[in-house]
Amino acid sequence: MAILFKDGCFKLDTKNTTYSFKVADYGYVMHEYYGKTISDIDLGYINPIVKRSYAASVKEDWYMYFRISDVGQEYSAYGIADFRATALRIKHADGSRAADLRYFSHEIISGAMDIPGLPHATENGYDGIETLKLVLKDAATDVFVNIYYTVFEQTDVIARFNEIENKTDNSVFVEKAASLQLDMNSADYDFIQLSGAWAKERHINRNPLATGMQGFTVRRGTSSHQHSPFFSVCAKNADETNGDAFGFHLVYSGNHKTEIEVDQYGTARILSGIGDEGFSWEVKTGDKFTTPQALMTYSSSGLGQMSRNFHKFITRHIFRPKWKNVRRPLLINNWEATYFDFNYEKLVALAESAGKLGIELLVMDVGWFGKREDDTTSLGDWVVNTEKLPGGLKRLAEGVNEKGLKFGIWMEPEMISEDSDLYRAHPDWVLSIPGRAKSIGRNQYILDLVNEDAKQFVLDTICSVLDSANIEYLKWDMNRYLTEAYSATLGKENQGEVYHRYMLAVYDILNTVITRFPKLLIEHCSGGGGRFDTGMLYYSPQIWTSDDTDAAERIEIQRGTSLGFPITSMGSHVSAVPNHQTGRVTPLDTRAEVAYSGTFGYELDINALTEEEQAEVKQQCAFYKENYELINKGEYYRLAHEPGVFSSWCFASEDKKEILLFCVQLEAGANDANRFVKIPAADKNMRYVEEETNQTYFGDTLNNIGICIPYEFGERVAFSRRFKAEK
Ligand code: DGJ
Repeated sequence: MAILFKDGCFKLDTKNTTYSFKVADYGYVMHEYYGKTISDIDLGYINPIVKRSYAASVKEDWYMYFRISDVGQEYSAYGIADFRATALRIKHADGSRAADLRYFSHEIISGAMDIPGLPHATENGYDGIETLKLVLKDAATDVFVNIYYTVFEQTDVIARFNEIENKTDNSVFVEKAASLQLDMNSADYDFIQLSGAWAKERHINRNPLATGMQGFTVRRGTSSHQHSPFFSVCAKNADETNGDAFGFHLVYSGNHKTEIEVDQYGTARILSGIGDEGFSWEVKTGDKFTTPQALMTYSSSGLGQMSRNFHKFITRHIFRPKWKNVRRPLLINNWEATYFDFNYEKLVALAESAGKLGIELLVMDVGWFGKREDDTTSLGDWVVNTEKLPGGLKRLAEGVNEKGLKFGIWMEPEMISEDSDLYRAHPDWVLSIPGRAKSIGRNQYILDLVNEDAKQFVLDTICSVLDSANIEYLKWDMNRYLTEAYSATLGKENQGEVYHRYMLAVYDILNTVITRFPKLLIEHCSGGGGRFDTGMLYYSPQIWTSDDTDAAERIEIQRGTSLGFPITSMGSHVSAVPNHQTGRVTPLDTRAEVAYSGTFGYELDINALTEEEQAEVKQQCAFYKENYELINKGEYYRLAHEPGVFSSWCFASEDKKEILLFCVQLEAGANDANRFVKIPAADKNMRYVEEETNQTYFGDTLNNIGICIPYEFGERVAFSRRFKAEK
């Protein structure tokens, strides 16, 4: 049983973790523990309540010991006596902002919860899943908070979300509703966040927690290039194999906020949820507001295991069942190969040579519709340019299919160019504030998807494009952030809902598209990895990781991304040299070795390669297919790494009998020392043969000494090694 309840104490157990809380004095629900499995249920003796001066209490008992400003809570609210950052802020009809949340009831439900309209973790055929519904009630009104904790026993993940339910006679306005709160009785941790910019996404930033506030807020309307909604809190000495590591995801693709407040007693409160700046959601009588879901995991053996917990969990419970175990096609995208300069002949010729080398899907990027010959025009006019593509998408798809490849297409459906027939017909469909200038980004505006007509147009357009030919893949791009988030379709009291309603509309469209086209594979993209989150991964298992295709820089981006996301979710392509983002020249085999650790593909003009290079590409495609199972279903380990100098990582089969190691030496120095790469993935009780050399190693030798990587001449040199357990 994953969930236990005894004498007012709740204990949520996964295979290796325990999460516990209790109904304490006056019905307040106190958080007690999250970490490695323990046996005790009531931990009251571990978290004694200390009487502190200058605290406050809403109870008449002035001498009461229980002061909510000083104890860990499961879900805190603004406006009463908790002086820390709080999870919930609601405005009542009388203008007051307060909630005094006490235990009301609970229920244990078998399986996971459906969250209509929002991406969420599902059972997907796995067992060992239970949900606790904990109901809290505002002591002064009939506002309820239903917290759903779903315990995924096998994968060591707990998912949670909240409903704010209004049973009063008037509307209430939810101004903040975090998805996750975790009060920790120590702040002796590091905080890891994945931050960056366009072409620099998800670099690892690690800092010790400090007294006061820390965290990140995203106000761009997408999960953004700047701050991933994934983060970790870990022991100061935690590394890849040792130490406490907590990992968190917000399953959401819009504005988000993570706060960690370290108080005067050295405790830390972690909050994560929808960004609350400007947010205000009206909950009418009888209605409820549902927060996005948050995920949390814990590993007592470092960041590596924390990542692997999420890799397995996301693959099993966030990806659609269809994509859980299916090999996804090896693709070529024409963006960096041709940019806007292509036509039918060029694309079919690209497909023909790609097919001969083992590539399975051609993705036609932007430039196929309207007058879009650069990025100034035609978004919204999703009508094929028959000068470039006579016979339209149908003929092109047939041409590509005849060469033995599947056909995929690019769209940026949420956008509108000022120079478009759509804008001329519906200038009112743009997200904008009447009387104010509209900010423009990359020469484009955003469609107001809160407007049902605009939303329906987007849905109909996508469906008619997909219906028009044998299109098996859609690259769904989104190349600017939301600004002036105001919708003329909502009243003045409800403008604080626009960002979230926009996201709900995108999710709704995606849901309809994947239901209508169940075989369609979508790759999400937002100027590279600007919407790389578990919300998007619910609708499609892969996202273009970054517009930076430089292999040397990709190592950092993919390593950072791997902290929270599975390898199979990262679109990763071999591109031309000199690289289009950096000008760097990296050998072809190194470019491939980096790209293998993702959804592998190419983004260059195959026909511009020499015969030798084409032969190498053919070998690479064969290598990837041969190792697909190990890379995509195996467990991923980050190994020795020195930014900009050397990096290594490996994949191990679940039974540890096979290991595939990759190393890249980025920089060379004269007379450098050899390196040793330890391989914790090896089973200490097995003996392995290194296939390339026939050298044998005991697993514990690989764990503790590792293999010697001799100093190589030259920069950006890469190699792989495969180890197999002896029979
Ligand atoms: C941004 C994407 O990340 C690129 O791959 C490409 O599709 C361009 N948009 C096209 O405008």
